[in-house]
Order: sequence, then structure tokens, then C-alpha cells
Amino acid sequence: MKDSPEIIAASTLVTCDASFTILEHGGVVIFRGQIVKVGPLAHLKSAYPGAPVAFYKHCLLMPALINAHIHFEFSSHKDTFTYGSFEAWLSSVIQHRNAVFHNAKRHIHHAIRAQLQSGVGSVGAISSYGLEREILAHSALRVVFFDELIGSAPYALEQNFKDFQERHARSLKYKSPKFTPAIAIHSPYSVHKELAQRVLERADAHTPISTHFLESHAELEWLESGRGWFGRFFQESLGVANPAPSFEGVVDFLNLFAHKHLLLVHALFARPEHFKHAQQIATQTHIITCPRSNRLLSGHLLEVARLRTLALPYVLATDGKSSNLDVHLLEELRHALFSLPGPLEHNAQDLLLACTAHASKALGLNNGVLQEGKDADLVLFSAKKAHTPLDILLRILQAQKARALYIQGRRVIPGSLSSRHF
Ligand code: BEZ
Ligand code: FE2
Repeated sequence: MKDSPEIIAASTLVTCDASFTILEHGGVVIFRGQIVKVGPLAHLKSAYPGAPVAFYKHCLLMPALINAHIHFEFSSHKDTFTYGSFEAWLSSVIQHRNAVFHNAKRHIHHAIRAQLQSGVGSVGAISSYGLEREILAHSALRVVFFDELIGSAPYALEQNFKDFQERHARSLKYKSPKFTPAIAIHSPYSVHKELAQRVLERADAHTPISTHFLESHAELEWLESGRGWFGRFFQESLGVANPAPSFEGVVDFLNLFAHKHLLLVHALFARPEHFKHAQQIATQTHIITCPRSNRLLSGHLLEVARLRTLALPYVLATDGKSSNLDVHLLEELRHALFSLPGPLEHNAQDLLLACTAHASKALGLNNGVLQEGKDADLVLFSAKKAHTPLDILLRILQAQKARALYIQGRRVIPGSLSSRHF
């Protein structure tokens, strides 16, 4: 980290703040890994006359992107699991889970590189086993690391609790400004209520808690009536004699997260009252949507217009390769832009915030906006001109990769730097 202020500027600057400010010839002053000033380049140069300037011509400067939900451990998956129906997919995961960890570490490195090259500076990494913990902790990425709790069997509760505590203790050892240990509750159907309660009673109100939530209609039916596809699945695939959900409905599941910082992933089959209940009981509620994963597994997409009426912004993420074709956030943005109903300009702005400011808030980070006091996580994309959110999103999609990426003020993707020092 340099110990004197530097200016990073570009032809267009997008703050991704609440008013979605777009500046021509704008820049940021960074010092000790943080943004200390934002504004027109001319003002910054007169306020910091001695500071070196990296000016990126024909480029967009904005907060580094954030992929808030990704399973790195499944990065070697290609064609083992069944896509086309959530139920068929889950059955195939149970049957073939161990077949997809071939050369896992090499593929985890690949997936990390893919994040950085597409301008992603922070990730919300869901970890089932801890295979990627050390690799991520030593990577350039800023990481919120969710140790995932799984286990529905009451007789295995003690063992599952102990295994989880051990994995989470290992993650806590890596805690740093760039690595935040957090907790994921796999889903309402796969985690026993008592097990989840025991893990969550130790979590504070600031630790992000993520959970896959109502990804399928079968899950809603299981929670509400204890019947349907999941009953047969527990009997036939998992050999459970008299299966019954350990939660007494959706609200009972949501009550786990009272006074917690909650991330609901997917929520395709959630009703408005479920969202409202979450908002009432949790300190913060965020919805994460992974549209390609949702289309590939169940054919559905989150109805984002319904979230707007609840003033509940959504966050965009790729999910893992276990339920997607790749983990490129720019591809996810492209798909979302083309598939979400509603006004294009409005959707473009929401999508840009969904992988910057809103994703940062969801992960409890101090980035995602170009603003004084925020961490200097910045990305540059080649773009001659961009005046509106839609222009900006289209230029990013055309660029296909980042020209430069800074994390905590350090440049991690060099690109072909056209910086001039004034
Ligand atoms: C379990 O570990 O109990 C479980 C995993 C996936 C689906 C259902 C249950
Ligand atoms: Fe997921």
C-alpha cells in the first residue's frame, strides 16, 4: 500500500451512490487503501497538487463488482448434475456429489481468476467443506466466507454441530480486513431446526447469515404441509422412515434469523408476507438472485417488481458452477438485462447497483460506492462514452473484461495501462 495520496481518474466516473451520479473526467483520491475524495479530475488535481495521476482514457471508473453468492468448491462441475428441474437436480447432487471434486483446487484457482478478470473485487463464498478457504484467503479477492451448515437428521445433530464448529473455527483464524468469516444455513429442508438454532445463537447481529430459501415450489409445499416431493425424496433417496420437516412452516424458519443480518438466496416461491416477516424480524434483509441458476434448475425468475413495492433491493450473483454454466458475473448481468421484464433503463440501474452498492451492503462490506471513507475497490472498463445507466451497462457488457482492478487501493489487474502522469 502506497503511503501518499494517488489520483485514479477516467473519462467517465460512476459513483453507484443513491443518486447514481455520473461524472465526466472524474476521479478518486486514494490513500492507505481508502477513498479520501471523489470529484472532477481538475478539482482533485488542485486539492492534491503533488499526487500522481493514473488517467484511464476512454474508460469507465466505478466500484469494483461484487459476486455475493458463489460456491467455489464446485468449480470443476461441468455435466454431472441434471438441469431442467430443481427436483431432478437435487436428486443428481445427492447421487453424484463426490464425483465433482476432481482437480478441485486447480478449478478453484481458475474461478478466482475469472472473478478478477471480469472486474469482481469481492465475493460471498459459500463453503461446504473448506476446500477453498486457504486459497481464497491468499487470493487478491476480498472475501466474505460463509461456512455452510447442513444436516437434517436428528440423530446426527451433535456430530454435525461439532463438524461445523471446527470448520468455522478454522475460518475465524483467517479473519482480516479482506477476509470476513460468516455463516450459511444451507436451506429449510436440509438443516434441522435445533442444529440451526445452536449455530445461530452464537452469531451476532452484524455477521451476514445466508440461506437458500424457497428455491422450489416443492420446498414451499414441504414447509407448509410436510407433504409432496420432499417426503418421497427423504424416504427414497435418503432412507428416512417417517420424514417430517423440523420447522412448522415458512415463518418458523424465518424466525431463526431474528436480530440477524439476513441474506435470502433465490426466494423464487416466497410470498410478500414472507418478505415482510423477514424485514420485521431481521436487522437487515437482502435478497440475492441468481437468474441463470434459477432458469436452469426450475425455469423461474425472481419477480423483481414485487420486491420494488417492498423497498427491498435485490443483489445479483452467479451461484456456483454446480447450477450454472460458468461463474462470470458479466454473463449473469447480460442474461438479467435481457430476461428481466420492466423498463430497460430502470432495470439497468438496479442491475448495476445489484452488483455494487446493494451487494456491498448485503455482505456488510465498506465498498461498492465511490465515496469518501469507502475502501478503494475500483474497476475500469473500456468505454468511450456513457451517459445513462443503460449506456454504462451496455459498455461493460461489450468490454467483456476489466481493463484494471484495484482492491484496497492496490492494482491487481494490470490491463494495458494507458495512464499518464501529469
Ligand atoms: C442432509 O444433509 O440432511 C440433506 C442434504 C440435502 C438435502 C436434504 C437433506
Ligand atoms: Fe447456492
